[in-house]
Amino acid sequence: MSAANDAAPVIEVITSAREMRAWSRAARARGLRVGFVPTMGALHDGHLSLVRAARARSDVVVVSIYVNETQFAPGEDFDKYPRGVEADVAKLQAVGGVDVAYAPRAMYVDPEKEAPHETFVTVENVSKGLCSLSRPHFFRGVATVVTKLFNVVEPDVAAFGKKDYQQWRVIQRMVRDLDFDIDVVGGEIVRESDGLAMSSRNALLTPENRAKAPAIRACMSRAAEDARSRRMDASEIVRVVTEGISNATGVVDYVKVMHPETLVEYEGVVESDCVVAIAAKFGEVRLLDNIEISINP
Ligand code: PAF
Repeated sequence: MSAANDAAPVIEVITSAREMRAWSRAARARGLRVGFVPTMGALHDGHLSLVRAARARSDVVVVSIYVNETQFAPGEDFDKYPRGVEADVAKLQAVGGVDVAYAPRAMYVDPEKEAPHETFVTVENVSKGLCSLSRPHFFRGVATVVTKLFNVVEPDVAAFGKKDYQQWRVIQRMVRDLDFDIDVVGGEIVRESDGLAMSSRNALLTPENRAKAPAIRACMSRAAEDARSRRMDASEIVRVVTEGISNATGVVDYVKVMHPETLVEYEGVVESDCVVAIAAKFGEVRLLDNIEISINP
């Protein structure tokens, strides 16, 4: 985390949707553009770079902190997911640039008290494959909670990290298809000094696996360098990356070479720009990473 910022105005913590919406509407009535960074907390420098991206395009910034139950299946790491709203707000306060932390206690009606939530948002094709293969519920949960957050915060611009590449493309498609008047910005991946992409889940790695996990970035960069310098088959890129991760004892969930927007998988020689997307487990922890590759025709 960057140095403290004593001059920054005190962040307002809002927990109710009604108050959050009123705050945003008042800001917009004053002619201010509202920037938004949705998060599940456990904030790191990757989130802070999204705050900067949102801030650069708006006048006030809202960061939401909510661990969204609908994007976890039973048995996944929902209970273990790191939590701590106070510490997160303190981090945001220290770096500055954030006006409101929106930290709802619940985002779905309590089925014990009322009829259960039964409306979900599905982005049909961009959600398919990749993370959906092992987490089929995931993008429905993400698209639904992001829609709910957009309806409460009513932002002009929202920033999502490109580490979660498929999620970023799913949200872009949803915003276009459902006519949200929101600019969706993709923030570049922020890395630790050894190349590991920053993620809230890195905190769950054992020290041994933390030491091995940077292999993802190393073999991905090697493959990208090769693909830029010579004609390479998609399957060869997949093989180089898969071997690199396996040699570091990671268990590959997927390595795919795809069109950067449609996420349609390439076959044969890669002749135009692509993204190589990776999910791999080190111990119990599933990590995502990717690299965009410009191919000279
Ligand atoms: O990327 C995340 O942290 C989450 O998927 C998001 C976008 C905040 C939705 O819960």
